[in-house]
Amino acid sequence: MIVELSIVVPTFNERLNLPTLIERTGAALDGVAWELIIVDDDSPDGTASLGKEIASRDPRIRCIRRVNRRGLAGACIEGMLSSSAPFVAVMDADLQHDETILPRMLARMRSGEVDLVVGSRYVPGGSADGGFSSLRAWISRWGTVVAKRALNVELNDLMSGFFMVRRELVEFIAPQLVDSGFKILVDIIASAEQPLRIEEIGFRFRERTSGESKLDARVGLDFVGLVLNKATHGVLPLRFIFFTLVGVSGVLIHFAVLRFSMALFEVTFTTAQTLATIAAMTTNFLINNAVTYRDARLRGVIAITRGLLLFYLVCAVGAVANVSVASWIYDNYELWFLAAMTGIAMGSVWNFALSSFFVWRKT
Ligand code: GDD
Ligand code: MN
Repeated sequence: MIVELSIVVPTFNERLNLPTLIERTGAALDGVAWELIIVDDDSPDGTASLGKEIASRDPRIRCIRRVNRRGLAGACIEGMLSSSAPFVAVMDADLQHDETILPRMLARMRSGEVDLVVGSRYVPGGSADGGFSSLRAWISRWGTVVAKRALNVELNDLMSGFFMVRRELVEFIAPQLVDSGFKILVDIIASAEQPLRIEEIGFRFRERTSGESKLDARVGLDFVGLVLNKATHGVLPLRFIFFTLVGVSGVLIHFAVLRFSMALFEVTFTTAQTLATIAAMTTNFLINNAVTYRDARLRGVIAITRGLLLFYLVCAVGAVANVSVASWIYDNYELWFLAAMTGIAMGSVWNFALSSFFVWRKT
């Protein structure tokens, strides 16, 4: 059998959904030479072993078990790269995506008129009311608006996880794709050298019946980072973007602590400013440790204390760098805004470089 369409299905704890998924996919694609590639991140519920058991009886099913790795985007990339079919699709395992539009997606791909077909909730024939909490719907809608602007693409459902694409295109851009996070579709579009010919086909986003969603706040943050990274054409490394976003949160904390300690405890400004600085550095350290450097995360009281002290030290040096550059510019050009901004930029790059090197030992 020469496969025409590979359907990549990333899974994490989807054992209960596999049998129905395979049955429905088969029914929808009657007469098509398809295969379904399960890419499982070693789910504790044994999704991979069930996948392999099914695969041992059904040649249309394959199962890749990845160990010591987590990540939806990475799993999708790996599945797509394992295909040798002309067309590849990505579809969720939890039955939220409507497999009955697969034949229409395939027909559009076969026509050669499009590079990418997206299953869309926000075009006629599509809806998202079934599978979404209102908060999720809101985040999804605004995420789409922001990303459309930043990346300059006309696509109504940029956040979709359901699409079909020419495999050659994926092969070509694979080295540029970011394998953390959820947003593989945005990434493919942003990484393509030429504007892609994209079409959307509406579908009703169904409710999840078994298992639970893995999308959380960290995923949202990953998305913001990805958009900034792509919008600046990769000039800003993802890690630096996170580091800076965390820095911005530190500024908010700084002001909050400053205001409160002055109002509540009637301390002097200098004391309040010192408290605020320590508080902001500490939260910055903790958030960076959990998010920005999660792959090099410091664990245990001793490692964390040591890391925190080093981080204070790095920030102190960064502050000196910041103030000296800013003063130099101010003294020479008297442009206070430019001086302050340059100082801040200087301090952030410095803090980032040094803490990557000394605190988390990453480059
Ligand atoms: N291999 C692997 N590794 N698979 C994963 C991982 C992971 O770390 N995390 C999630 N998955 C699988 C799930 O098992 C499921 O098949 C699919 O990826 C989607 O995960 P869900 O947890 O069900 O995501 P969701 O329903 O909240 O989000 C879906 O809808 C969003 C709409 O805004 C996804 O399709 C998103 O891509 C989409 O943006
Ligand atoms: Mn889902």
